[in-house]
Amino acid sequence: MRRAVIIGTGSALPARRVTNTELAETVDTSDEWIIARTGIEARYIAGEGETTASLATEAARKALDAAGIAPSAVGLIILATATPDQTFPASATKVQAALGINDCVAFDVQAVCSGFLYALSVAESMIRAGTADVAVVIGAETFSRILDWDDRTTCVLFGDGAGAVVLQAQDGERGVLATRLHADGRHNELLYVDGGPSTTGTVGKLRMKGQEVFRHAVTNLAKVTNEVIEAAGLSVADVDWIVPHQANRRILDATARKLGLAPEKIIITVDQHANTSAASVPLALDVAVRDGRIKPGDLLVLEAMGGGFTWAAAAVRY
Ligand code: UT7
Repeated sequence: MRRAVIIGTGSALPARRVTNTELAETVDTSDEWIIARTGIEARYIAGEGETTASLATEAARKALDAAGIAPSAVGLIILATATPDQTFPASATKVQAALGINDCVAFDVQAVCSGFLYALSVAESMIRAGTADVAVVIGAETFSRILDWDDRTTCVLFGDGAGAVVLQAQDGERGVLATRLHADGRHNELLYVDGGPSTTGTVGKLRMKGQEVFRHAVTNLAKVTNEVIEAAGLSVADVDWIVPHQANRRILDATARKLGLAPEKIIITVDQHANTSAASVPLALDVAVRDGRIKPGDLLVLEAMGGGFTWAAAAVRY
């Protein structure tokens, strides 16, 4: 069976790391509060010249190097982001140009924190349909540019970064086994940006009712994780690693408890990266691949939930 196999991963972070203590110099917060409520110790913040497309390009290059694939072999680039460099064209085309690829399919996907899972699912379908043999799927964000730095209930939670995977069509047992995507647009006002090209003509700032998002997140993530495991014909006991969206350490712990999963099976990077929205799942995946925890043949479940609401999961034989 023709499947989309992850043959390389990569990631990129801005140069500047900002600790909670440094944040507390300008925001009414504390290292103790942020760690206790979220598990976040630090985040990376993009500086001048660092953009969603530049971080995405670096992550994509590293993933292509890890895969041993030349950019010229890439037939499809999908970039998941809610913070594109420009309203249009798609930042995926900036990545394409930076990689020196003159003709391939390239577009952005917008599903906020679930964006990478949505992009992975679309890429996998296109690979199975024969549209491309090699795809680069990226999650990249610069949420620091849409944060209200006077709102302590949101600005301490997010960071910037990018993660990427290279998918290749292969016959066999490895690859994306199943995906499940969901959206429920009734919850727009719980997590949104208060601007946009067609409404205010401005970029806007992120707004969130954190407690309500938290409640939905635990329920939806546990549910979609079970769904995708079942769709792949497997059980929770078969899972080697959960690679979750990194929003809050307490969400990861609560979801693991609800699933009956050992906490050691959860890849956690929220402590060092904070919430990087669409970048968080591929960033966490790359960290765990490079430090040797995730090995070829392991069964992974990738899952995420975010604005929309959207939520999604993928079962992958790595
Ligand atoms: O990526 C998309 C998905 N996003 C999420 O999953 C986020 C989900 N939500 C959360 O992670 C949590 O709800 C938060 C981390 C956002 C907030 O944690 P919480 O335990 O729900 O805190 P809370 O909102 O109930 O606030 C508790 C207190 C409040 O003070 P009072 O009213 O009890 O006096 C807040 O004003 O903490 C206060 N507070 C802060 N204090 C210090 C809120 N933010 C801060 C802060 N520093 N940064």
